[in-house]
Amino acid sequence: MSSNTRAACVIGWPAKQSRSPKLHGYWIKRHKIEGDYRIEEITPEAFPAFVKNLTENGYVGANITMPHKDAALALSDPDDRARTIGAANTLWVDNGRLRSTNTDVTGFLGSLDVAAPGWDERCQGAVVLGAGGAARAVVYGLIERGIKTVNVVNRTFEKAVMLRDRFGPNVQPAHWHDIPSLLDGGRLLINATPLGMKGHPDHAIDLSRMADDALVSDIVYVPLKTSLQAAAERRGLKTANGLDMLLHQAVRGFQLWFGIKPEVTRELFDLLAADIVKT
Ligand code: ATR
Repeated sequence: MSSNTRAACVIGWPAKQSRSPKLHGYWIKRHKIEGDYRIEEITPEAFPAFVKNLTENGYVGANITMPHKDAALALSDPDDRARTIGAANTLWVDNGRLRSTNTDVTGFLGSLDVAAPGWDERCQGAVVLGAGGAARAVVYGLIERGIKTVNVVNRTFEKAVMLRDRFGPNVQPAHWHDIPSLLDGGRLLINATPLGMKGHPDHAIDLSRMADDALVSDIVYVPLKTSLQAAAERRGLKTANGLDMLLHQAVRGFQLWFGIKPEVTRELFDLLAADIVKT
């Protein structure tokens, strides 16, 4: 590796399972960049010193994963998006200043745009399951695209109320038992919880009353097709998947670090999908 090599990394604890090296490695190779993308497993105690010295540690930027997204926000100069969402997942060094953003929003919106172009023109309302960090990025994206009513359903109702406090009156907090009535005629449902993910409990949501042109999105990508997506397909509904969200969220970081806006291709999707199927 020459001294001109630009390197980025994913920082997590743990981080070994991260698929980001495969994904960014694909783009580095495709664009023939003198670059590298590595995994850094850093404890919460060591995280502040590591990111404050990101350049000295050999990096132009980083992806941030569990459990560091809150700390990354606090230790950097966030853009409006990361500040409003309350979590940073991408860092870059800008003239010596550590900046941060949240790319889950573009990832989520990108996955919907791929699955159902023009979805935002047909939708007035959406139902979001979950009120954690991922759900906050989803809600931000929906409001940015002009969705008027975002029903946030959460096991812990108070956390859904906190999303209304954060994002304003577009957010309508709701209980799990409200789901059937909220989905009656509904056009957009997003699962932003780990329900249905490998190693987590599953959920059975009745989609029969959703509109015939509804779109169902799941941020979970292991398994590649969740039971929620399978149910949506059986109902003849369109589905957006978590792997597309992962791929689209990575675009901005790559562009910030390496100066090229990469493309999410079918080949890249298949490469990552093959890796996920193996797990
Ligand atoms: P992330 O950053 O991935 O969104 P998080 O901030 O821990 O992770 O949020 C996880 C979300 O999934 C929360 O909304 C959580 O509900 P609570 O607020 O009630 O904890 C939801 N969630 C996790 N496990 C769940 C389960 N078994 N049933 C229902 N909701 C669950």
